[in-house]
Amino acid sequence: MKATVTAHSKYTISEIDPRLYGSFVEHLGRAVYTGIYEPQHATADENGMRRDVIELVRELNVPIVRYPGGNFVSAYNWEDGIGPKESRPTRLDLAWHTSESNQVGIHEFAEWCAAVDAEMMLAVNLGSRGLDEARNFLEYVNHPGGSEWSDKRRANGRAEPWNVKVWCLGNEMDGPWQIGHKTADEYGRLAHETAKAMRAFDNSLELVVCGSSNSHMPTYPEWEATVLEHTYNEVDYISLHMYFENRAKNTANYLARSIELDNYIRTVAGVIAYIKAKKRSSKDVFISFDEWNVWYHSKERDKATLAGAHGWPHAPALLEDDYNFEDVLQVGCILNTFINRADVVKIACLAQLVNVIAPIMTVPGGQAWRQTIFYPYFFASVYGRGTALKLHVESPSYPVDGIGEVSYLDISAVHDAGKRTVTFFIVNRHGTETLDLNIRLEGFGALTLAEDQVLAHSDINVTNTAESPNNVVPGKGEGVELSDGTLAAGMQPLSYRMIRLQG
Ligand code: AHR
Repeated sequence: MKATVTAHSKYTISEIDPRLYGSFVEHLGRAVYTGIYEPQHATADENGMRRDVIELVRELNVPIVRYPGGNFVSAYNWEDGIGPKESRPTRLDLAWHTSESNQVGIHEFAEWCAAVDAEMMLAVNLGSRGLDEARNFLEYVNHPGGSEWSDKRRANGRAEPWNVKVWCLGNEMDGPWQIGHKTADEYGRLAHETAKAMRAFDNSLELVVCGSSNSHMPTYPEWEATVLEHTYNEVDYISLHMYFENRAKNTANYLARSIELDNYIRTVAGVIAYIKAKKRSSKDVFISFDEWNVWYHSKERDKATLAGAHGWPHAPALLEDDYNFEDVLQVGCILNTFINRADVVKIACLAQLVNVIAPIMTVPGGQAWRQTIFYPYFFASVYGRGTALKLHVESPSYPVDGIGEVSYLDISAVHDAGKRTVTFFIVNRHGTETLDLNIRLEGFGALTLAEDQVLAHSDINVTNTAESPNNVVPGKGEGVELSDGTLAAGMQPLSYRMIRLQG
């Protein structure tokens, strides 16, 4: 099977916003407690944060982390997480039917973000609360001092404001499961007024309004149109979420779902353009794809806890998907889609980062280790910075019901003109055939091979585990030929590859 690609330095999609490789930490399961925070752990720092986890997050070069939810935020009182730890209340978390000890709050999370060198992306509670809570939280976080909430922050040990730029106006407000769920009009009005108040404090904030929780919601895409009707001139991003699953155990169909993702982005970009024209607005609104991942392996296991059958446990194991090799390919295709839509998707958050549907897992009191999906995320985040290239792709394809023709070759490319690198992220979706790939390189000058990393495995169901964390790791690729401005490489069936060229 053969595929040809043409890459030209002048055929570009957009500069990639580094926040395309963001992630997410929710007060859910063991994401926070025994995930990022475990004061008794041998590696704990002075704030009780696990240094082994910090190191892995730094390795991923995560630029921004969304917090504290997710569904959790919609009944969260941020004030519960400030002040002396011994006076903080334990609350019932209605979203995940657990207890929240509030031992980690905004101060601890901010310290942790500084340690991993990531920007904070904070969500306000527009479920059980509203505008007043949002403005107080913003004042606490971003005002230097001389007001009630900023002085409380100072009294709690943080003199400087954190100056958080990106704020989410609630979470998945279209979802009937959400505490304080609203209709599009109810939410649109509230989001508008909240955004207006937040902008009155600081007009340079970047505000994210909730779009659809997934493209199968009955209110999609009317939700986006209505919400943007209310908020277009006050917000910078509309958020989208999507999770992927392969319960049917059909690899070809599963790997085709990134096409559905692409259609979802395309549709919402169309809705944005429609509202922009309708409002005769000159400003742009972009997409913040602030929750995405594979999520299904743990669903059966979690049923009892989520139904409340286990009472109100503190930090139980929830949503701990064991990712397999097939998921590496899925995550590779999803990241390719974001790179190829970098003109409209400016922020994206892998949901989540530690223990909960996560690339990083921890053993309480024990080691931290990398799941299979760690690696495609790592390659994209570390090497996918620069300009996304508009590739011309010719590849054989296969038909998928409800989606159409799906190319066996999935590919994206990033050009960093400053560093003179061109990096390709490649997936062969074919189950049995090698893909002989020819990439014509134009306008880059002479290039040499800098790095060739392959993820391949004979068993698509293999996982990494705490006992055996290196079942799936990248290996050095072989056989790349570069001559006369053409790169030739053979892609094994069901494999992922990153090829980086240097000028
Ligand atoms: O990431 C897990 C959950 O998925 C989030 O809490 C929610 O926003 C989404 O439904």
